[in-house]
Amino acid sequence: MKKASSSTQDSKLLFRLAYDYIMIRIERGELEAHDKLPSIRLLAQDLKIHRLTVFRAYQLLKQNEKVYVKEKSGYYVSPINPKEAIPGHTDISPQTSSSYLKNALAEIQQIPVTYQLSQSLIDPNLLPNLYLSEYVKKVFDIYPKLMGTYSSVQGDEELREFLSRYLVRNHNLQLTENDLLITTGGQQAIDLISRVYIKPMDYILVERPTYSAALDMFRQQGARFLTVDIYPSGYDLEKVEMLMKQYRPRIFYMNPTFHNPTGYTVPAAQRKQLVELAERYRCLLIEDDAIHEMYFDQPPPQPFFSYDTDGWVVYLRSFSKYISPGLRICAVIGRQSVIKPLIIAKSLADNGTPLVNQKIFLHYFESERMKQHLDKLRIALQIRKEIVEEELSATGWTWDSPKGGFNLWLKLPEALPVEAFLNESIRQSVSFIPGIICDPLREMRSWIRLSYSFVNEGQLRDGARRLADIAQRF
Ligand SMILES: Cc1ncc(COP(=O)(O)O)c(C=O)c1O
Repeated sequence: MKKASSSTQDSKLLFRLAYDYIMIRIERGELEAHDKLPSIRLLAQDLKIHRLTVFRAYQLLKQNEKVYVKEKSGYYVSPINPKEAIPGHTDISPQTSSSYLKNALAEIQQIPVTYQLSQSLIDPNLLPNLYLSEYVKKVFDIYPKLMGTYSSVQGDEELREFLSRYLVRNHNLQLTENDLLITTGGQQAIDLISRVYIKPMDYILVERPTYSAALDMFRQQGARFLTVDIYPSGYDLEKVEMLMKQYRPRIFYMNPTFHNPTGYTVPAAQRKQLVELAERYRCLLIEDDAIHEMYFDQPPPQPFFSYDTDGWVVYLRSFSKYISPGLRICAVIGRQSVIKPLIIAKSLADNGTPLVNQKIFLHYFESERMKQHLDKLRIALQIRKEIVEEELSATGWTWDSPKGGFNLWLKLPEALPVEAFLNESIRQSVSFIPGIICDPLREMRSWIRLSYSFVNEGQLRDGARRLADIAQRF
C-alpha cells in the first residue's frame, strides 16, 4: 500500500477546511439562502490558510450549486431548493438540521439480496437461540418485577460489577464498576462520545479506512478528519505524532483489533507507544473493540486501555456483535473524568439501556454454554473465511488474510470500476461494501469489503463465485 505524502494531505485538508467551514454554517442555518459569504481575504485570515485555497473551495461550492456569484459583489448562499424561490411556497416535509445526516453503510445493507456479503454480522443460525430463550424465562423468574423497572443511567450495577471483574481477570485492567457505563451497542457509545468531545471544526484523528458509520457520526458533529493509514503491521507512528503535534486533535478514533473493514490488528509493541503519544499530546484515544473474542488461532494483544495510566483511553467493549446482537450490550470503560460526562450524555439520549436486556445478557454471559458458543463460532467463522478465500483465489484480487473478525478487505484491479461492479452485483443479488465509503478521504476506489460472517457456507460459496464471474465481464 502506498502512503499519501503529508504535503498532499495537508493541502487537501486545508481545502476541505474552507469548504466544510461554509457547508457546516449553511447546514446549521447560520448562513441562510442569499446571505453573503465572508470575503476570500477574511476567511483566509480567520482560518490561517492561503487565499487561493479559499478561492478553490468557493469555486467548488459554486460548481456544486451551494453558492452563486454576484458580479463585483461576492459569493452568496444558493436557495436550498428551487421551490424556495416561489413566493408563498411552504414545504410540507420537516427539515432536518443537517444534510450530513447519512449512514452510507446502512443504505447498502438495506438492499434486499440473496447473497448478503455486506453485513458484518453473525449469521443468526450460529447463535444458540433455543438456549437463549430458556434464559429469558429464568431471568424473569429471578426478577419478577423486571419489566416494571428502569435501569440506572450508568447501567445495571450487577452487570457492571460482573463485567469489571471479567475485564480485570482477562486483561489485567485496573477498574471498578464505577468506571463502566453500559450503552446500547458500540454504536451508541461512539455517538455519545462524538457529542461530548467533538465541536464543529474540531480536528480528530481517524484511521484510513475505518468503520464508515463512525465517520458519518463524526461528520454529523462537524469534525475535520486527519487520517492515519492502517497497515497489517499497524500505524506509521511518526505520522501519528506529527499530526498530533501539528493539529492537536481532540480524539483518535481507532478500531485496532480485527479492524473493520480491513481485519488488521495493531501489534502489542505499538499499543504502549501510542498511549504514551496520547498522553504527551493530550489526545483521547477511543479504542473501539467490537469483536475482541472473534480470533481464529490466537487471542489478540491486550487492549490499549491496559497501558493507560493517565486517563487518555476510552475503551468500548461491545458484546453486541457476537454474543447477542438482539440485546445490544456494550461496556464503555474509562477514568472518571471521561465516564462522568458520558453518563450525562447517556441520560439525555435514553436514560439508560433497557434493564431486561442487561439482565438477560448478564445471566447468559456468565454461563458455561456461552464459552462453548464462542469456541464454535470461531471455528465456523474460520471455515467461512477459508471458503471465500478459496473461491476468490483465481481472481487476481489481493488481500491480507485476517487472523480474526468478519471481513475480507480486497484490492481489485484499478481498471475494474467498482461502482458499476456493485450495481451489477446488486442486480444479480450479491451485495458488498465499496471501500470508498470507509475512506475518510473518499478515494479508495479499488477496494471492497466482503463479509463472510452473515450467510451460510453454501450461499457464501455461490455468492463469492457469482461475484468473481461478474467481475470478469468488466
Ligand atoms: C468497528 C465497529 N464499531 C461499532 C460497531 C457497532 O456495533 P454495535 O452497536 O452492534 O455494538 C460496529 C458494527 O458494525 C463496528 O464494526
